[in-house]
Amino acid sequence: MAESKNILEIRDLHKEFYIKGQQFKVLSGVNLEVKRGEMLAIVGASGCGKSTMLKLITTLEPISSGEILLDGEPVNGPSPKCSMIFQEARLFPWLTVRQNIEFVIPDTVSKEKKAEMVDYYTKLVGLSDFINAVPNQLSGGMQQRVSIARALATRPELLLLDEPFGALDAFTRMTMQQEVLRIWEQDKTTMIIVTHDIDEAIYLSNRVVIMGKNPGVVKKIVPVDLPFPRDRTDSEFLKIRGEIMKEFLGT
Ligand SMILES: Nc1ncnc2c1ncn2[C@@H]1O[C@H](COP(=O)(O)OP(=O)(O)OP(=O)(O)O)[C@@H](O)[C@H]1O
Ligand SMILES: [Mg+2]
Repeated sequence: MAESKNILEIRDLHKEFYIKGQQFKVLSGVNLEVKRGEMLAIVGASGCGKSTMLKLITTLEPISSGEILLDGEPVNGPSPKCSMIFQEARLFPWLTVRQNIEFVIPDTVSKEKKAEMVDYYTKLVGLSDFINAVPNQLSGGMQQRVSIARALATRPELLLLDEPFGALDAFTRMTMQQEVLRIWEQDKTTMIIVTHDIDEAIYLSNRVVIMGKNPGVVKKIVPVDLPFPRDRTDSEFLKIRGEIMKEFLGT
């Protein structure tokens, strides 16, 4: 079958939660298309439904109505084409870096090939020297890099990152942003990154999706047509920042 140009298509997506019989509309009529190979950032106020949207894409939560197409096919269960990274690393504390990554590679893959894949992805995230360490011997940033390696080792066509650097200090965060860009350029995996940080969104992505709240909608999509690596003090960068800020402040 021919590959679909859009790795992801979301059509008229609605999500409601019920708490003690009372309905809460979280997402209302979300439409979004993500091209293969794209890096998309999603920003929006706390509670506007960003994490919910990622959970619907991975089928961790059922949709209320609408459609989500992954590589042209409606999603109806967890797909190997899609992998998700959470705010905290969620590694197995008793397994080494190697074992944590090995764990997600299917048993149909030979032992030799598995070892090769683990080596490749550990190197990709710059942790070859720590392959035999267990998570509590690593810093927060290193643990998050292991979780990125682990997610990539499933060879997803779409990688969802839900505030992956939220728990990291500003310096580590910037290093991680550069890492993710390098991995994205090298591995060409389509990525959707949810972030609170507008600079991070502009620094990394081809487009920034701005979501509005109550109920969650796509308010605006801002293209970022700047060459990589980007300069956060560049006037074009700041212009885009201003445009996004305006949406947030509602002016
Ligand atoms: N399982 C659930 N049951 C009921 N309500 C839920 C559930 N999950 C999320 N919600 C509600 O849906 C809304 C959106 O939550 P969500 O976690 O998607 O927001 P978010 O945009 O990711 O926010 P943040 O930036 O703080 O992470 C919130 O009002 C939340 O209370
Ligand atoms: Mg969230």
